[in-house]
Formats: sequence, C-alpha cells, structure tokens
Amino acid sequence: MKVTLKVWRQKNAKAAGAFKTYTSPELNPNMSFLEMLDVLNEELSNRGEEPIAFDHDCREGICGTCALVINGTPHGPQKGVTTCQTYMRSFKDGDQLVIEPWRAGPFPIIKDLVCDRKSFDRIQQAGGFITVRTGSAPDANSLPVPKEDSDLAMDAAQCIGCGACVAACKNASAMLFVAAKVSHLGLMPQGQPERYRRVKAMVEQMDTEGFGACTVTGSCEAVCPKQISLDFIARLNRDYAVSLLK
Ligand code: FES
Repeated sequence: MKVTLKVWRQKNAKAAGAFKTYTSPELNPNMSFLEMLDVLNEELSNRGEEPIAFDHDCREGICGTCALVINGTPHGPQKGVTTCQTYMRSFKDGDQLVIEPWRAGPFPIIKDLVCDRKSFDRIQQAGGFITVRTGSAPDANSLPVPKEDSDLAMDAAQCIGCGACVAACKNASAMLFVAAKVSHLGLMPQGQPERYRRVKAMVEQMDTEGFGACTVTGSCEAVCPKQISLDFIARLNRDYAVSLLK
C-alpha cells in the first residue's frame, strides 16, 4: 500500500511551520504508524533531506511518549490505542493522512511533530506523589484495601500522561490527566494524609501552566488511549472543593 502524507514541518520553536506533502514508499499494511514514519525518514535521509522529528520510546503503548494528531484525532482513528499501537492496516491504500503535533499553549512545539510536555511533569512534581512511609512489601500487604477501591485506583493509574486529552480539548484542559493522577493516589489508604494538599497543589500548578477549564465536552475521554473515565473529573472537583474548606 501507499499513502500521501501531509506532515507538519517546523525547524524549531521560533520558526513558522507549514505542511509538507510526501508520498510514502511501498508499505506493508502490518507496519505500525511509527514504522511507516521510520521508512519515510530513511528515504528522506537517503535523499539528503532532514528527517521528520517525532517522539517515541517504548512503542508498546506504555510510556505515553508518542504524540501525533492523525487526520484531526490525537493518536488516530482507533479507540483506546496510542499512536505507536496504530497500524497501517487501519487505513486504505491511497489514503491522505494529515499528521500534526499536539497543539496547545502549554505544549509548545520544539520541532516538527515534537512538543514540550514538561508542564505535565511540573504538575506531577507539585503533588502527584506520596511522602508517608508505606513500609516494606509485607507491611503494605497487611493493610486491607477494598476491592472496588483498588480496581478504581488501578483504572486511574492507567493514565500514561501522553497529553492526548489536552490535544483533543477545545479549552486545552488537562483535567482528565490531573483527575487520574489525583484519584489513583487519593483512593488508596496510603494517599489519605496528603489527599487535599495534593489536589490543591496540582490544580494550582495546572492553572499556572495555562491549561484551560473543563467544560465537560468529553473529547478527552473519547481520545484517551487508556480510556480514563470522565467520572474521575467529578472526583477531582469534589476533592478540590473540600480542599478549599480545609
Ligand atoms: S511510544 Fe510509548 S506509548 Fe507510544
């Protein structure tokens, strides 16, 4: 199969970017989307052209590094998968694919399809951790946790911090990300001592970074590769309201 690619090219953070059109080499439909870009980059290098910069690490849907908007949708057309787990068989021979980076003020573009997501790291650093001593593994195992709570905490902990929620949101809101991080700790007994300090600090940092407010459009949940539920945003709002009374 072959596809036509309209790729966002931008030399650096300050330069103006533009779309550039490429015809892909012959592709195997079972290639991943990133392997397709690898093949294109090899061809560009052989021609003496600058390869396309894009983020990736694990290529297994775990790390949250890959971040491409494909035909207007963060992580592409398939539900519940990352860009690196998207395969060329999801497209048809002759398709035109428009590839862009995440677009949001707090995620400035560094080069081509790579954006700077350190704003997420700073939100995490503001409170996304537990400082109480939880003891050794046997101590932790002696602390009973209701199954419903541990299941819910695990659902929230699936967030890989890719930022697709922000890229999909018309307000560039990071509420789903922050909600997942606040919830997976706040649902566990070990997360209780800092529960309200944590939510306040993380929400304040989110606002400082310039992320927008949530207007519950649900676009974040729709594109989340880990299908994190909007319900966690309700939980975040509740915890934040309580934190203001403390
Ligand atoms: S490269 Fe790690 S999730 Fe895609």
